[in-house]
Amino acid sequence: MDKKISIGVIGCGAVADFHAVSILAAENAMLAGFADVRKESAEAFAKKYGAKVFDSVEQMLASPLVDAVCICTPSGFHANTALAALSAGKHILVEKPLAVTVEDCDRVIALAKEKGLTAGVISQFRFSASVQHLRSMLKDGRLGQLITGELLMKYYRSQEYYDSSSWRGTWALDGGSLMNQGIHGVDAMLYLLGPAESVCGYMDTKTHVIEAEDTAVAAVKFKCGALVVIQSTTSAYKGAPRHISIVGTKGSVVITEDTIEKCDVEGFAFEPIAEINKEKNLGHSSPMSISCDGHKFQIRDFADAILTGRAPAVPLTESRRAVALIQGVYESARTGKKIVLE
Ligand SMILES: NC(=O)c1ccc[n+]([C@@H]2O[C@H](COP(=O)([O-])OP(=O)(O)OC[C@H]3O[C@@H](n4cnc5c(N)ncnc54)[C@H](O)[C@@H]3O)[C@@H](O)[C@H]2O)c1
Repeated sequence: MDKKISIGVIGCGAVADFHAVSILAAENAMLAGFADVRKESAEAFAKKYGAKVFDSVEQMLASPLVDAVCICTPSGFHANTALAALSAGKHILVEKPLAVTVEDCDRVIALAKEKGLTAGVISQFRFSASVQHLRSMLKDGRLGQLITGELLMKYYRSQEYYDSSSWRGTWALDGGSLMNQGIHGVDAMLYLLGPAESVCGYMDTKTHVIEAEDTAVAAVKFKCGALVVIQSTTSAYKGAPRHISIVGTKGSVVITEDTIEKCDVEGFAFEPIAEINKEKNLGHSSPMSISCDGHKFQIRDFADAILTGRAPAVPLTESRRAVALIQGVYESARTGKKIVLE
């Protein structure tokens, strides 16, 4: 039988179900078990999925039965968990964001390189059929010279959502609407348009009792020349589906949530992208109303990357770009200055 990668899950909260289901669904992976600082959380997952419970994260990382780990801890703990896993010789797949600071991203990137281990980040939106289709059009130059674009993420999260765990909405462990929710769209924009050059931003905490921002807007200049607007909030009544538009000299494309709503491109007969996830993806109003398809794709890809020695679909450096852009918005909002990105 072909080798399967044995994957443990660290951090047994809301997103861990997506990882467990996806590992079990992958023909090239097997579920090694669960670990959490709260052992009862790991026990509940082990019971639910019929898998092993580890007494601690350290015990999981010391186990020769574990090849790789999915890191599903609060965002601000990703880096230290990733560093411990890499030091123990485990391949890592980290939930988005890789870390909440660029410095922490760099620490993980450096150790993964030094150890020669496979390391990736979950950032599933870019694999939706609509984003993939738009990317291939952009690669073929179908939209001509890129002029402008929009990423609008008018989401709703209740105060109860932020109160449900002490890490949510804190600067050290989470960030605000842009670092937690908006990052999916920011990652897609970077994937579509390439690196960003500079950014000016504003932010505010409008309706929630949290440290970080619940509303941010930014103007971003991309290296390709496009001038792009970013808007992110978790204070919008009921929330609205994510909106992305890219406008070029030969056409414009609009993606609403996961569907290409409009594709007005010179010499191109548009065939609507039938999006399988439309009714499943309601993440703008409810945090866990998202499809598992992206996680399934990325976990299968991660195991295959380990088995074949290639890079995973979203290498760590890709997530670093999104974190750097978001930190650029935050820094600009704090200082009132334009931030030039590396
Ligand atoms: N890709 C997506 O669409 C998506 C969706 C939701 C969450 N996420 C990401 O997943 C991560 C977790 O989010 P969540 O909503 O599942 O959080 P959560 O609070 O529901 O769960 C976090 C779990 O980690 C455990 N934990 C905390 N510190 C730990 C440590 N040092 N070591 C081991 N376990 C630890 C907690 O006890 C808890 O069980 C966040 O980074 C978030 O951004 C991604």
